[in-house]
Amino acid sequence: MTLRVTFSAGLLALAPIGAFAQDCTVEGDPMDLEADAVAAVYDCIEARMAEGYAANGDPVAAEFRSWQVTSTRPALAGPHGERFLQTFANDTAAEQYLKFAEEGVEMPAGSVLAKESFAVKDGKAVPGPLFIMTKLEEGGAPDAGDWLYAALMPNGKEMKIQQGFCAGCHLNWEAQDSLAYPMEDVRLTSQ
Ligand code: HEC
Repeated sequence: MTLRVTFSAGLLALAPIGAFAQDCTVEGDPMDLEADAVAAVYDCIEARMAEGYAANGDPVAAEFRSWQVTSTRPALAGPHGERFLQTFANDTAAEQYLKFAEEGVEMPAGSVLAKESFAVKDGKAVPGPLFIMTKLEEGGAPDAGDWLYAALMPNGKEMKIQQGFCAGCHLNWEAQDSLAYPMEDVRLTSQ
């Protein structure tokens, strides 16, 4: 088994921790990466992603990596911009989310899903946004299925997003309370 992933250290050996990041090189078409090659890219990039998201004091960014992971590895999906995605569910959300139920789903208020992302550009993995959905009390956001949508840039700064943009797509999964779930082949089962 050959992993098509190589690591090369950054040049700035004296830079503060995190300021220089090793390159996470990906050879070949990201669509064709095997599961363990994806896992190796993730191993390379995950600490840098986590540090970046948390760099601006966002409370979800500081916490989400201690939540329940919902897939066996990040997976490439189209709708979030050809990125590898991995979703974490907080304590309130985890039990219901991990059922991946298709009918009659009603997530409890206070559920939070945080989805980290990375893309492959010019043969290198690069961190993408952290996407966040928070379930409000009933009536909290009637046009958005009572979900509040947010996103952080890889440096932890809040992105300006339109609720209607995110909800407009997520409401397609009405019977799943706006949840789209990870790609089927990576869903974490038998909790
Ligand atoms: C064009 C459709 C589309 C748009 C627009 C969209 N999403 Fe998603 N979203 C998806 C799909 C499909 C998934 C599941 C993909 C996966 O995880 O593999 C998903 C998953 C998520 C998840 C994980 C929870 C879940 O649904 O399983 C979060 C959090 C999320 N999106 C946030 C956002 C935010 C924030 C925005 C707006 C900035 C947004 N999304 C815009 C399609 C969309």
